[in-house]
Amino acid sequence: MRILFIGDVVGSLGRETLTTYLPKLKKKYRPQVTIANGENAAAGRGITGKIYKKFLQDGVDVVTLGNHSWDNKDIFDFIDDAKKMVRPANFAEGVPGKGMVFVKVNQLELAVINLQARTFMVPLDDPFQKAKELIAEARKRTPLIFVDFHGETTSEKQAMSWFLDGEVSAVVGTHTHVQTNDARILPKGTAYLTDVGMTGPYDGILGMKRGPIIEKFMTSLPKRFEVVEEGRSLLSACIIDIDDQTGQATKIEPIQISEDRPFE
Ligand SMILES: [Fe+2]
Repeated sequence: MRILFIGDVVGSLGRETLTTYLPKLKKKYRPQVTIANGENAAAGRGITGKIYKKFLQDGVDVVTLGNHSWDNKDIFDFIDDAKKMVRPANFAEGVPGKGMVFVKVNQLELAVINLQARTFMVPLDDPFQKAKELIAEARKRTPLIFVDFHGETTSEKQAMSWFLDGEVSAVVGTHTHVQTNDARILPKGTAYLTDVGMTGPYDGILGMKRGPIIEKFMTSLPKRFEVVEEGRSLLSACIIDIDDQTGQATKIEPIQISEDRPFE
């Protein structure tokens, strides 16, 4: 099975970039499953029902979320009906949505799990323990398991990848918006990339307008951050190949598309 994962889609520029390049990426790489992180899709914060539907129309099979899951109140109107959306599984017991979904591809099934890290982030249930529980459940159905681990620190993401090596097909990090240069397959067959990077404004600061952010760093005064909605854009993604029988990854390849790295 081949998976295409698209990193944090930020605001309208991110959404337009996804709409433009997803058909081209599908033609070039022919993935069976496409997953995208959509937690910044609505002006940088959260996601709406309309945007979720557009993702599916554009050819995304599963949308993952993260710390901004609840930032757009629209989410509460559709998350429980959204069969192709996962929010971090280690959110408090009983909150809306779910942390794992299964995608069917011919005779195969892929489990998609979303977890959120805790270092420099809000307190949540233990993502390591939660991962173990969900993997035990998923393995009753399929050895093909994909994890989006939404986290701030490289160390916690690396820790999760080693903790899950041989237990899942892939652990990819999201949230920091900058693609890391460490894609690899761990010894027991888990594909890993610390952060896939973002899809959206290329000339902002993590997708936001630069001015207020620079001012905040210089003055420590509270500033309103706004997403960049025009200008150059960037797409960050990765391709993962998995052996259908064993669930072990055989390849992980990072992708970036921008004016500096044009699509070929
Ligand atoms: Fe995030």
